[in-house]
Amino acid sequence: MAKILGIGNAVLDTVLKVPHAPHDDEELRASERYTQIGGNVSNTLYVLSQLGHDTAICTTTGGDSEAKQLISGLKERNINVDHIQRFIKGRTPCSYINLNAQNGNRAIVHYRDLPELSFDHFAKIEIEEYDWLHFEGRNIANLKGMFNIAKTFLTHQPVSLEVEKPREEIEELLPQANLILFSHHYATAKGHDNGESLLKAMQSKLPNSHLICTWGAKGAWLCPAQGTIQHVPAETVSPIVDTLGAGDTFNAAVIHHLIAGKPLVEAVQAASQLAAQKCLKHGLDNLLTPVEPSSAIANLSQLGTTKTLVVEDKSSGKSVVLIKYENVVKAYLNNCPHQNVPLNEAYKIDVNPFEKTMKCSVHDAFFRIEDGLCIEGPCWDEQLEALEVRTDDKGDIFLL
Ligand code: FRU
Repeated sequence: MAKILGIGNAVLDTVLKVPHAPHDDEELRASERYTQIGGNVSNTLYVLSQLGHDTAICTTTGGDSEAKQLISGLKERNINVDHIQRFIKGRTPCSYINLNAQNGNRAIVHYRDLPELSFDHFAKIEIEEYDWLHFEGRNIANLKGMFNIAKTFLTHQPVSLEVEKPREEIEELLPQANLILFSHHYATAKGHDNGESLLKAMQSKLPNSHLICTWGAKGAWLCPAQGTIQHVPAETVSPIVDTLGAGDTFNAAVIHHLIAGKPLVEAVQAASQLAAQKCLKHGLDNLLTPVEPSSAIANLSQLGTTKTLVVEDKSSGKSVVLIKYENVVKAYLNNCPHQNVPLNEAYKIDVNPFEKTMKCSVHDAFFRIEDGLCIEGPCWDEQLEALEVRTDDKGDIFLL
């Protein structure tokens, strides 16, 4: 177990689960809304605390009610909050996140009007007490001084730096970090179209640092200090439900495995696995509990818009009605709300492709395919129970 100090953002994330990424002028209804603690460093520390480390955060909050929520959330995640700098003016940083229910991708809108973490605040921390310092590559003007103190007072403790976005003068920090975690956004902004190209350009300037560049589905490239560049392919997992915080999880796992004395390549392999595991579940809670691999209930090739497919989900025992509607798969529990009988009990479930309805075979209740609402028949205005499904890139359909 190591004592780790993270310096960077803690954010209150409000997540809306949306049926697809919204476009201009569209009005959408979210199927879920929840608030959780986010921010790159705070997420990384939460994963590190689940991996058994003693973590503390050096971050900023406002003096508002969101600050209270944020601080109690951090404490619940076993992150020490003694080094938080609180400002009277400005709001606690918040993000508003659309989580696409079809593929687990997220779009983040971040709002911040709070002053940046000050050098003086950081300078009061007894950093020698920590075994590892992890910095988020933002607030560069003040980070320069913080890095100088770290290099002056630390004897053997590594310093890691996340370089997610290009920021003015961030390059000045690089030679002082032992581990640098570049993202593909940074690499692309610097004119590289893969991680190898970025690391090649960095290698000669930073011969004594461990370098990593992550590239989503293309995997990650790494270059150990004084070593050679290697590639680790991405782990493929299915169904992906939530990618929010996957990069932060990756960073935590790299740090964890390096602390455990693993070579960089092994740390990156293990980190890719944990980041992939994270994508199989919502949020970051219980990250180390493996997700049971679910099996597909059908394949897209079996579906059309003019007939339903009834399948049984082996793990839940549920009978499920599947149909394609405007290029998305709709799934409903095979149960008519009229008399709680399967919709296909008497005969098959007829589909009217013009009216976009399907009919219960027992007492002729007509349901809209779009949302399962009964628009004609004995259970008028009642609704079929919608089930959440996900289709992967092979067309396999999973019940969530
Ligand atoms: C995910 C995340 C969110 C936060 C945003 C900040 O990596 O840390 O939790 O809202 O990024 O940029």
